[in-house]
Amino acid sequence: MAAKPDFKTCLITMTKKILITGGAGFIGSHVVRRFVNHYPGYKIINLDLLTYAGNLENLKDIERKPNYEFIKGDIADSGFVHSLIAEHQPDAIIHLAAESHVDRSILNPLSFVYTNIVGTVNLLNASLKRLESSPDFLFYHISTDEVYGSLGKDGFFTEVTRYDPRSPYSSSKASSDHLVRAYFHTYQLPVVISNCSNNYGPNQFPEKLIPLSLNNMLHEKPVPVYGKGENVRDWLYVEDHAAAIDLVFHRGKAGETYNIGGHNEWHNIDLVKLLSKIMDKKLGKPAGFHERLITYVKDRAGHDLRYAIDASKIKNELGWLPSLQFEEGLEKTVDWYLENRDWLSRVTSGEYANYYQTQYHTR
Ligand code: NAD
Ligand code: DAU
Repeated sequence: MAAKPDFKTCLITMTKKILITGGAGFIGSHVVRRFVNHYPGYKIINLDLLTYAGNLENLKDIERKPNYEFIKGDIADSGFVHSLIAEHQPDAIIHLAAESHVDRSILNPLSFVYTNIVGTVNLLNASLKRLESSPDFLFYHISTDEVYGSLGKDGFFTEVTRYDPRSPYSSSKASSDHLVRAYFHTYQLPVVISNCSNNYGPNQFPEKLIPLSLNNMLHEKPVPVYGKGENVRDWLYVEDHAAAIDLVFHRGKAGETYNIGGHNEWHNIDLVKLLSKIMDKKLGKPAGFHERLITYVKDRAGHDLRYAIDASKIKNELGWLPSLQFEEGLEKTVDWYLENRDWLSRVTSGEYANYYQTQYHTR
């Protein structure tokens, strides 16, 4: 961001009450757990609509902690958001609630507009009201590297890369990023944004590449690889993202953007082959057992070729680095899914099963 109003850096060490949106989802649950456990002096309020992607089972271990409270509600409902903020008077919002899956955005863009754009504006408006009595208030928007568009074979996304979103999902996240910045420049709302690459780890809903592939391998079903599997993603273990969010929240500067990524690029096909090998080993199967399930399917519409983050700013300014090597993170992830097959069966029943069978993967 260019011009910066004369704000203090984020004075959050004094914060007592933090509203985290989307805390029952994949990344949100890791962020909520980290904040509840690391900061017993903070009150953490988790606001989540519990869509197909939100699951309170993800937070079983902390649900009875005295500094944690769950509230079910829709960020797209302006009246609800305003009364919630007026009643609970948080000192900061960490905003993760979103429709997050690109394939779903291709099938139903409007739900992404409601949650990701309208929902974000509702939170921003309620934050402005809150700012009147809480001058150190902070609005932290968790965003994605997909706002920057698609890279060719070389280069990296930096914080000044021009926005060029291409899917309904990334367009809705780009819109929300722009609106967050607009509230900073227009109304002097203290904000910070981070844009992260692809996350993986426990509790990720099995519609995204890694948990979907693991789930299908477990059931010995075809593992769909879009197009030729040549697209590249930059993978980061979810707890490393949560650690970066903690750091940006406490030490980031109001008005700034921080890119977060693992410097860990993989072609999809190589990643799925590596997963197959890990599954062979873990399940005691002969070499090639799971790899034979890999099935090339029709490409995703408008499929971005490559994402890769230059994370030098957060490294140099805040001292963040990912802690896990990819193979180690993947092993932990595979172990978690193998130990939590009940979780997988529960979340893949109902609406998801219907989506899975009728939409994308039977083309
Ligand atoms: P997720 O889909 O697993 O979780 C989203 C959560 O938001 C769910 O708990 C859902 O119930 C909740 N939610 C959805 N609509 C809501 C609404 N209208 N009101 C209240 N709650 C609602 O998503 P995720 O993968 O954990 O992503 C979290 C955030 O991080 C998103 O903003 C996403 O854009 C961003 N992000 C994700 C990744 C990734 O790789 N998954 C990478 C970078 C950034
Ligand atoms: O880059 C950050 C983004 O990463 C986040 O903002 C999004 O919320 C998150 O969903 C993720 O988006 P992707 O589209 O990159 O993730 P997904 O897991 O859906 O796909 C990863 C790659 O794998 C992508 O190139 C598409 C491909 N793919 C995906 C699925 C689900 C397949 O080949 N087969 C599949 O079945």
